[in-house]
Amino acid sequence: MTSVVELKSDEIGTWSAARPVRVALAGCGAVGSALLRELAARRPALRERHGIEVTVTSVLVRDVARERRAPLDRTRLTADLDAFLAAAAHADVVIEAIGGLEPARRIAEWTLRSGRELVTANKELLAACGSSLADAARRHGGTLRYDAAVGGGVPVLRMLDDALGAGTPRAVRGILNGTTNFVLGRVERGATVDDALRDARDAGFAEADASRDLDGRDAAAKIALVAWAAFGTAPEAVEVERRSLLPDVARYVELARCVGRSVRQVAECALVDGELVARVEPLLVARDSALAHTRDEGNRIEVHTGWSAPLCASGPGAGGAPTATALLSDLLSPRVGAPQRGRASRCSSDRRRFRWALGIRGAPVLLHRLVPACGLVHTNADATEAWTLVDDESSADIDRLLVALTAEGAEPVAARLDDDERGGAEQGS
Ligand code: HSE
Repeated sequence: MTSVVELKSDEIGTWSAARPVRVALAGCGAVGSALLRELAARRPALRERHGIEVTVTSVLVRDVARERRAPLDRTRLTADLDAFLAAAAHADVVIEAIGGLEPARRIAEWTLRSGRELVTANKELLAACGSSLADAARRHGGTLRYDAAVGGGVPVLRMLDDALGAGTPRAVRGILNGTTNFVLGRVERGATVDDALRDARDAGFAEADASRDLDGRDAAAKIALVAWAAFGTAPEAVEVERRSLLPDVARYVELARCVGRSVRQVAECALVDGELVARVEPLLVARDSALAHTRDEGNRIEVHTGWSAPLCASGPGAGGAPTATALLSDLLSPRVGAPQRGRASRCSSDRRRFRWALGIRGAPVLLHRLVPACGLVHTNADATEAWTLVDDESSADIDRLLVALTAEGAEPVAARLDDDERGGAEQGS
């Protein structure tokens, strides 16, 4: 006779021994403290579904006295990097959520060179030295995981690594900065840039220096990591053409409104005539497009494979909980050493020609005078602002126009119109 006994979940833990995993955590800001909260909340699931018991043995912070919204044994806090590394020598995994280049680089190098596992969300660090960290991991038997560095809770790198069957996409593009998307959406709905940015900061979305979000440096670091995963080019070698929304974000929202579109900060990397191009810019997208419908701090990635439609993923792209969840996913992934990347594509400047909207402050005659083949020029009611559409120009052509208009005091702005109906980057120059 077979008898069935129902076990309660807390009884399971008493007889199935969970494997202890000791974690040293660098950083206890929005992401680090969210990670501690998630670890506490998911302790039973980690034990029962994954068979691990995570203990945080040391936490590196800037200020040990600061109050933190995290379940924390304060005796584990240290502001001394050497003391942290000494404690990390007894940990199985180092999670780096401190951001920026230093001391993150030293922590990463120490971890990988001592053959340990590093889990990090630090896109700036990886864009600056990702391939040398991967080399260090390979040489010393360490493991490098960084899926949390791109897309917040959206598994962008995982999708590129796992879902393409070792295939190479034609192009990958999307919204990779939650703060900028949040600010653009709010300003479109009537908020001021300052208020929208304050809300993004309060929600824990923005970088410590939020100009990195709005001027595209944050998204540029992320698209370099995407290009590494998609095309094998080391992130250090990816040259990203970057067009900033600063100094006046609201002017791009207004330019988009003039042409009946929405503006989104879009990052793209693509193979054009066999060479890699990468860019981050304000893109004027159709109001009914999926990019325009990506709201608040959402991120969205589109992988153009040559199939009839791109492979897409979207979700929360910034904030403590989604990023902490991505770090936890990395922690739970089996040890794999360093990521394997395909053959490197050479990087070149983007010579493709696009359609642009060009706006100025001042007399419309400047557009007629300085823009070759200038089409219809529109003005506002008192003719203090003007805009036009410019067809078939490369980024370099537009930059030359911007320089000429700036020299005349016209305070120009330019943004490319999305032409995604062409299906990614198959169009060579
Ligand atoms: N500041 C970043 C963003 C955080 O807004 O996307 C997530 O990388």
